[in-house]
Amino acid sequence: MDYTKISNDEILKWLKEHLNEERYIHTLGTADKAKDLALQYNLNPEKAYIAGLLHDCAKCFDNDKLLKIIKEHLEVEECEMLNYKTLHAPVSAYIAQKEFGVEDSEILSAIRWHTLGKLEMSDFEKIIFLADKIEPNTRDKDYREKIKGFLKEENGLNKAILKCYKETIKSLVKRDLKICLLTIEIYNKLQDLVN
Ligand SMILES: [Fe+2]
Ligand SMILES: [Fe+2]
Repeated sequence: MDYTKISNDEILKWLKEHLNEERYIHTLGTADKAKDLALQYNLNPEKAYIAGLLHDCAKCFDNDKLLKIIKEHLEVEECEMLNYKTLHAPVSAYIAQKEFGVEDSEILSAIRWHTLGKLEMSDFEKIIFLADKIEPNTRDKDYREKIKGFLKEENGLNKAILKCYKETIKSLVKRDLKICLLTIEIYNKLQDLVN
């Protein structure tokens, strides 16, 4: 089934033109990892590959462009406006739909929430979230191995995502940055799910 209105080759060409080299390599790694995780968890590998391919498509847009698209077309969480680094997620979902013709709601939602996460995440959303964190092309090896270790356990998706939230929260505290209430809520919910 076609999940986009143009071919994967054309998407790759667009990405090469709109992302820097490191982000392009990260994108290819995320798409492959998303496909692997989909196979591991009995989800649709083709859909996962597309979601991985497009998850960061707006990552290299400048802030003015991101804010303009958001202002004109989207609603975002208040805490997303506090950290401009997170704004590419809703805009990437928007571009996936407008530029590439993605209509599948699971793909769009997985892209939309890949930075912040959300309280009710489907397994599909979870694997895209994780693929972004553990793709081998640009992510730190020790970190990847730790997360992958959790994936071997029972309830592995939740355990792996909880680990990601722990690391994110630690890093925010270390850098003296604010933490979104939603991040804390998701962390608490994951604690309930794994304990
Ligand atoms: Fe991202
Ligand atoms: Fe990413």
